Amino acid sequence: APRYAVFGQPIAHSQSPRIQSAFGKAHGIEVDYRAIEASPEEFAAALEAFAADGGVGANVTLPHKEAAFALCATTTSRAHRAGAVNTLLRKGERWHGDNTDGIGLVRDLTGRHGLDLRGRRVLLLGAGGAARGVAPALLDAGILELIVVNRSPERADALVDAMSEPGRVISAYWDALREQGDFELIINATSAARGEGNGFNLPLSLVNSMTTAVDLNYGEASIPFLAWARAAGCRNSFDGLGMLVEQAAESFQQWHGMRPETDAIYTELRGRDA
Ligand code: ATR
Repeated sequence: APRYAVFGQPIAHSQSPRIQSAFGKAHGIEVDYRAIEASPEEFAAALEAFAADGGVGANVTLPHKEAAFALCATTTSRAHRAGAVNTLLRKGERWHGDNTDGIGLVRDLTGRHGLDLRGRRVLLLGAGGAARGVAPALLDAGILELIVVNRSPERADALVDAMSEPGRVISAYWDALREQGDFELIINATSAARGEGNGFNLPLSLVNSMTTAVDLNYGEASIPFLAWARAAGCRNSFDGLGMLVEQAAESFQQWHGMRPETDAIYTELRGRDA
């Protein structure tokens, strides 16, 4: 039977196996999808071993999304623009890479949360693999402007350059955020809270009465940013669980050719951590 997996480090607490098997059940397919832990040094060999063992599709999560991109023979244009891959599909003897994170986020924001992204000013915190994954889809969804801010400014500049839309996508310094006005959408794509769990130092001037805050992390890693968002008076704030489920649906569709319904598993997972 064809095998599927998610690669990451750490990976033990990944919800992806549960989500993929729920989608499979709803469509009457038994999905063999496992979590495989691999360090950055082990990743390429682990992926080859998986392919040799019948692996035909995989998700890739941190810290391997950029490495996965580099290992692909071909990619979709959205993965190419992101420079990061979260979905692998075996084609012959090679890997084809896609990035479903961005469309997953956009579906969660517009579908589940009813947000209209067109004409919005968006602040993106972070410029790593997660940020690169979502930036192209936000632009495709018709936002007005994307301001990218990152601890190391060179990486924010690199993301901006990769989007090739100067004037619409611009970088800013963290210390100068006060000069950037307010935003209808603020996205935390940093892994700051996954490390030492420090708080967020962001000016209240970023927030207006319509601001939505979304953290691409979910669970504990989203607590500091969402606490800031609530204290700052954001109208809505939510974590990345919806995006996780939506990107999983997109991956499932690519592997199995069927579009899964996401509400049931979203509610189930939400209920568990509530
Ligand atoms: P991911 O795949 O989650 O994006 P990554 O590529 O390692 O992982 O990127 C992590 C992001 O979180 C980067 O934007 C990083 O900033 P740097 O590029 O300056 O390293 C950001 N980040 C991590 N720890 C942080 C912290 N303590 N404060 C602010 N930003 C942090």
